[in-house]
Amino acid sequence: MPTVVIIGAQWGDEGKGKIVDFLTEKCDYVVRFQGGCNAGHTVVVDDEKYILHLIPSGILHKNKKCIIGNGVVLDPESLLKEIDTLIKKGVEIDNNLYIAKHCHLIMPYHIAIEEQSEKKKKIGTTKKGIGPCYTDKIARNGVRMIDLLYPEVLKNKIQANLEIINFLLKNLYNAETLDEQKIFSQYMDYAEKLKKYIDDVDIMINNAIDNGKNVLFEGAQGTLLDIDHGTYPYVTSSNTVAGGACTGAGVSPKKINKIIGIVKAYTTRVGEGPFPTEIKDELGEQIRQKGGEFGATTGRPRRCGWLDLVGLKHSARVNGFTGIAITKLDILDGIDKLKVCVGYKYGNTVLEEFPKELEILEKCTPIYEELPGWNESTKGIKDYDNLPDNAKKYLQFIEDSLKVKIQIISTGQKRDEIIIKEFPL
Ligand code: GDP
Ligand code: IMO
Ligand code: MG
Repeated sequence: MPTVVIIGAQWGDEGKGKIVDFLTEKCDYVVRFQGGCNAGHTVVVDDEKYILHLIPSGILHKNKKCIIGNGVVLDPESLLKEIDTLIKKGVEIDNNLYIAKHCHLIMPYHIAIEEQSEKKKKIGTTKKGIGPCYTDKIARNGVRMIDLLYPEVLKNKIQANLEIINFLLKNLYNAETLDEQKIFSQYMDYAEKLKKYIDDVDIMINNAIDNGKNVLFEGAQGTLLDIDHGTYPYVTSSNTVAGGACTGAGVSPKKINKIIGIVKAYTTRVGEGPFPTEIKDELGEQIRQKGGEFGATTGRPRRCGWLDLVGLKHSARVNGFTGIAITKLDILDGIDKLKVCVGYKYGNTVLEEFPKELEILEKCTPIYEELPGWNESTKGIKDYDNLPDNAKKYLQFIEDSLKVKIQIISTGQKRDEIIIKEFPL
């Protein structure tokens, strides 16, 4: 019966992939509904590491329907590479992967334009063409998956778009222009390889829900990177919040049962933008090394900081979390005192809510509550009762502040390094 949406509660890389992989066992369908190959979801199964970018993390289980919904922006080249890598590792893709007819395609000109615009105004994007592709979608100039099956339509769209893009590349950016014919034949080649996956996936998903199947929606990025609710303009270009699952998969809000927020036990951020609780000293580096906090997509070092309950409160509200999964608790082992941000100081005022004004957020300094750390290792603990008392107190503090139940605690990279306090489905 349940449908469950998994959402990153911070700035991405919370460990969504691991939790999705874990919950897939009990699900029949796993659906990506936004973002693209800017995502990097790491899953470790039996010492083998997999990084999923576009394909739902459910693919590592046998016979689960994995769906790329209409809200995703899909780079065919990246997808084909991912398919190839997974097949080489023995993962079965055919009969398990389905792609929405109406998801938009990332084109080489999206990547070329982003390359240039990042030089002028740096957001610190993944340079995968995500923003320009969503721009074309909203401007109604986009190329959709289904266009691959209509060569004339595809050709005309590429031609019309390149007229503008090449003008900009040449005259505004003084950069190399792109060749229309080359892109067209490249995409006809992709069409041949990908056509078997194209389907009316919105109908499939709705039928599955109506037939009592368990459907899991896998969010990418995080709430504070949401185009509307994040730290704009230092955000990604899609709705990463739970509501995005409905528009990005073609499912009514009436059909969503559970929404689980994935919360890393501390905070990380990749790219530019404000980050009030960032730790800029040696401890930040220590957490980065221990937590392996390097981008799964770009390899960039992730900025590390303390847990920020102001941001998380905002996140819990806009998503309506029915439960929370705390990840990477083990990375905090051995830290003497743990800071948790409970408010922001802005000039002489105290803010309890996450400000919408970037100008304010940039000037906020965190107000911390200090909690005692623990020396014992929590790595691999599977039973809540075996956690050190101070770890339990840390978790309780989060639960009390957010007023949402912590249902899952992750204590390591591997599938079974997990505590289930309350099964969330
Ligand atoms: P995602 O983008 O939200 O799926 O997260 P990433 O995969 O980009 O980053 C999370 C990283 O932390 C990955 O390398 C995971 O394997 C790892 N990870 C997830 N949960 C845990 C945990 O509880 N403990 C530890 N040590 N690593 C974890
Ligand atoms: P997962 O799903 C962390 C960040 C980029 C940049 C901003 C905009 O693995 O959590 P974009 O290329 O999307 O236009 O870049 O968003 N970003 C992520 N940060 N995890 C991600 O995905 C991210 N996807 C994009 O670093 O700051
Ligand atoms: Mg990631």
